[in-house]
Amino acid sequence: MTMNRAKILEKLAVIRDLPSIPEVVGKVMALVKDPEISISRISRFIEEDPVITAKVLQIANSPLFRGTREITSLSYAASRLGLKEVEKIILSISIMKGIKGMNKRDTRLFWKHCVSVALMTEVVNKFSKTPLPGNDPANNDLFVGGLLHDIGLLVLKHHFTDEYDQVILVCEAGETNLYETELEMLGTSHAEIGAELARNWNIPDSVAAMIAWHHDPERAPDAHLRLAQTVNIADFICNNQGLGFSGEVNIRKFSNTAWFALGLKIEDVEEMLDEVKEKAKESELLSMIG
Ligand SMILES: [Fe+2]
Repeated sequence: MTMNRAKILEKLAVIRDLPSIPEVVGKVMALVKDPEISISRISRFIEEDPVITAKVLQIANSPLFRGTREITSLSYAASRLGLKEVEKIILSISIMKGIKGMNKRDTRLFWKHCVSVALMTEVVNKFSKTPLPGNDPANNDLFVGGLLHDIGLLVLKHHFTDEYDQVILVCEAGETNLYETELEMLGTSHAEIGAELARNWNIPDSVAAMIAWHHDPERAPDAHLRLAQTVNIADFICNNQGLGFSGEVNIRKFSNTAWFALGLKIEDVEEMLDEVKEKAKESELLSMIG
């Protein structure tokens, strides 16, 4: 017997080992939005978490970023990498810790999907006819929302395994995609569950909206419509081109409205893909998982 939405949300509220992000991540995400914030103030927050600090230093000292001398302090790392990069690293570490119960191959593919969509969301914005400028706070949400968009899948697969196996079987046997089948069989979706989770983490509403509406962007509140449309297109391109794998077997849909609103052209897709592949090569994020 399949669980319905109310039961799933009820159970979700009491599950103890949901993917979590350390308190420091929520704080940093809020602080990074403040243009007046100093690197040393953010560094002090991050230093409260020694695991994250060690990882940021490790990445700052990797060949891609390292200059002539070893980086041993977090504020030096942040000034070298930039705060946005530091935010990406700490968020990525948190999500990776949340991937449980998948075999090594699936974990790698899922992680590749998350990182590819994060990079693609930024690239889709860049190719759109009216890109969000770098100094717009929403620009900062592009990568983060892309990285987190499918986080609800982890919860459904890990905590509602039997119900979710049924969803997957129906998708594999027919032509419906995961999102539609989840809504039909569970009355909820990985998008809703993911957004619910993100709200518990205290992350910005704009990012929660990207997660909630990445399969149905036109239902996003006006303030976040643009971000939801951007992640919808990025997700479609990555799925369609096999950049990682999130479990979606029937990929056919993307929002036409989003495509035209962003002013994208079909001939841009190849260039966008090249750019994401290049960024992925340069990024340390993909190699962070075993
Ligand atoms: Fe999704």
